[in-house]
Amino acid sequence: MGNTIVDPRDRASAGGVYVGGAAAGTPVPPAAPGAPSQPRVHMTLPTSPHTGASAAAPAFAHRAPQGPAQAPVLDVRHVEKVYGARNNVTRALADVSFTVMRGEFVGIMGASGSGKSTLLNCVSTIDAVTSGNVFVNGADVTAMKSSKLTRFRCEQLGFIFQDSNLLDTLTARENIALPLTISRVPAAETLKRVEGVAARLSITEVLDKYPYQMSGGQQQRVAAARALVTDPAIIMADEPTGALDSKNARLLLECFQTMNRELSATVLMVTHDSFAASYTHRVLFIRDGRIFTELRRGASSRQEFFNRIMEVVAMMGGEGSDAL
Ligand SMILES: Nc1ncnc2c1ncn2[C@@H]1O[C@H](COP(=O)(O)OP(=O)(O)O)[C@@H](O)[C@H]1O
Ligand SMILES: [Mg+2]
Repeated sequence: MGNTIVDPRDRASAGGVYVGGAAAGTPVPPAAPGAPSQPRVHMTLPTSPHTGASAAAPAFAHRAPQGPAQAPVLDVRHVEKVYGARNNVTRALADVSFTVMRGEFVGIMGASGSGKSTLLNCVSTIDAVTSGNVFVNGADVTAMKSSKLTRFRCEQLGFIFQDSNLLDTLTARENIALPLTISRVPAAETLKRVEGVAARLSITEVLDKYPYQMSGGQQQRVAAARALVTDPAIIMADEPTGALDSKNARLLLECFQTMNRELSATVLMVTHDSFAASYTHRVLFIRDGRIFTELRRGASSRQEFFNRIMEVVAMMGGEGSDAL
């Protein structure tokens, strides 16, 4: 396919129109590719049909707007990560820089061992960078001391892993409530927020079930609700569809889309799956610990975006999607 492939960055700038979240179809200045046109704190959500509780709107009104709409939520600058020492060194990340604007849904793709998880772990403060800086809403997380970091992580970041990591002895409702319980949010507000998020993600019927009573897909949607319930600055997911069948993968990706479009969540999702990546607004392709290229969805349909992602995957690996 050699000659037919255009540098994705050229396509991105040629696209001109950004489709994403509340700003779908609205041209925005290049300086703010992902900034939604509406402030994230003003959300009107329907009443839960199951509980009658007023849904998630009040749950998300507690956080004040953070800075100008065009400031990046995430700013990764020259991050390097080296594992090991002396003769046994792995450079997992080399000079990685990128930004994520508020309201964006960004994918990170790359072959196994390319550094995707390392990148997510460094960005999410699970792992420490060797050099470089990571700013979340302007705060340098690489400079934070551990006590501050724990609180920061709990309040500002949401995590979704390949396995849901739900606590077996707690119901879905209790699992989702856990981060609020830890942050000492009053019980009545916790209940309201949990039910609001559950209604939005269509998991109300499993709220009183334990993880072993749920399907893998339901568990992942509960994990998504748990990540979302604190209204974090950014939600990070590492291969969230990796253990799901295609139907449940699609349901989870639709869940992410709802979180992003309707609840204005900013999402960074690692995946090796082009189908999953096609749900995002923008995909960063990583190879050997470096950002190889970036693809923006622009005005294209999900199917068109999927095809373009596949082209880059083929270009990177040379042997089609199996290379990732
Ligand atoms: N804790 C670790 N110690 C040493 N090497 C590691 C560690 N974690 C990851 N690596 C190495 O860093 C590279 C990137 O790994 P990883 O980020 O897990 O890749 P991916 O998620 O893209 O599959 C690989 O070569 C891997 O072996
Ligand atoms: Mg990984």
